[in-house]
Amino acid sequence: MLWAALVMALVLLLNEFGYMNSREHLEQSNRLEQQRVALNNLRTAVIDAETLQRGYLISGDKRYLGPYQLAVSRIEPALDRARSFYVGSQQSLSEFATISRPISRRIAEMEVTVRMRQSGGGDVEWLKAFNTDAGQTYMDTARTGLDRLRQANDRALVVSKRALERNLLAARLVVLLVILLGAAAFYLLVRQSRRIDHIQEERRQLIQQERDQLDTEVRERTVQLSELTTHVMKVQEAERGRMAQELHDEMGALLTAAKLDTARIKSRLGQLGVDDEKITQRLQHLVESLNAGVAFKRQLIEELQPSSLTHLGLRATLENYAREFSERTEISVETDIEPVDLAPDAQLVVFRVMQEALTNISKYAQATHVRVMLHDKKDYALLQVLDDGVGFNVNQKVHASYGLSGMRHRLEAMHGSLRIVSAPGRGTRIEGSLPQARHRMAEPVRQEPPAAAGMEEGSPAMLQAGPAPATLG
Ligand SMILES: Nc1ncnc2c1ncn2[C@@H]1O[C@H](COP(=O)(O)OP(=O)(O)OP(=O)(O)O)[C@@H](O)[C@H]1O
Ligand SMILES: [Mg+2]
Repeated sequence: MLWAALVMALVLLLNEFGYMNSREHLEQSNRLEQQRVALNNLRTAVIDAETLQRGYLISGDKRYLGPYQLAVSRIEPALDRARSFYVGSQQSLSEFATISRPISRRIAEMEVTVRMRQSGGGDVEWLKAFNTDAGQTYMDTARTGLDRLRQANDRALVVSKRALERNLLAARLVVLLVILLGAAAFYLLVRQSRRIDHIQEERRQLIQQERDQLDTEVRERTVQLSELTTHVMKVQEAERGRMAQELHDEMGALLTAAKLDTARIKSRLGQLGVDDEKITQRLQHLVESLNAGVAFKRQLIEELQPSSLTHLGLRATLENYAREFSERTEISVETDIEPVDLAPDAQLVVFRVMQEALTNISKYAQATHVRVMLHDKKDYALLQVLDDGVGFNVNQKVHASYGLSGMRHRLEAMHGSLRIVSAPGRGTRIEGSLPQARHRMAEPVRQEPPAAAGMEEGSPAMLQAGPAPATLG
């Protein structure tokens, strides 16, 4: 960049210098041309005067006098004009004096002879004067001087024109140089720009490659994670099943044995005729505790693995669970369960989604009323759990919370989907959809907006017909 600026400055300087120099030489050439014209005029005027003087002297014809006087009168201004070109220095003035002096003398001599011829005095007088060599000498000196000055003028003119030509050539070379430099700079610029484009393209490709690689890695990891989650959930279900079985077999056997023993003790006491109120009360309390234990064991088993799904079906299982939840939490639960066509594993997913939704309601919602609905939507079954509780910001991520993401994973693993509609103060609506067995496809289900009936705008999420303020999923 710096060198380019320096070259430009140098070219500018050269150009400016060349222009000044050319102008100077042009002015000098013009001056020399004018000087040459002035010298020629002077020479012509002197020769004219001399010729006309001779004509008059020889012929005595007065018609020569007018033009002669005119020619003489031209000499003095021509001398002044020519002198004006030599006033620059003392040397050139003295050079010019070598012609001006003999010319002035020659004119004076011509005037004398013409006057003598006019006065009509004897021919001898003017003839004598005419024949003297003085006039001729003056004239020769003047002519020689004039020729010398003209030659000097010619030489100076040639020198000046050559200098002008040199300047023109230099200017041409400078222009050529500028064009060449411009072309070189343009070429370098194009090359540089192409190189930059090339580097940028390479970088872009590299970034794209890295991005693609990252995308592939993320996709692979997501698939791995999803598989892992599915596996963990299967293991969890299996573990729950094992625990439910253990509870059923071991705890069930223990509790049954204890209840049997209690009944035996009671009958034995009757046989022995023991009628102690305290013992009877204790036994009654023991039986009640054992019954409570059996009920709790059954509830635990149902929580861990809802056997009612196999025995009673999905509808009864959901209704039972909702009723038990309501009894346990004292939150009123309304159910609207339609028969749907779902495979056993899908039915378990529906149960687990409702279970987690109700658990969340009991933990966070502070709700007074809950609706659980399962509808047959032809292609898919739609589960909706709505509450009139405090709601929450669905866009806010909660750390170490796996309930909602677990719901989504379970549903998506079965080609279904999850939608959460909630906002602070507006209740919560959980919607899970699963393809029905007769329509089950490889593609995930696209869920239509749920059509809950006859609800007003601005009412809580559990009562809204359309989408609530914020949606997750
Ligand atoms: N019905 C609801 N009403 C109000 N807030 C809710 C409701 N359901 C979920 N939330 C909010 O969403 C958050 C995430 O719920 P999620 O079930 O994913 O996790 P969690 O219940 O906190 O933990 P985990 O289920 O893993 O034991 C909760 O912490 C709660 O703030
Ligand atoms: Mg939860």
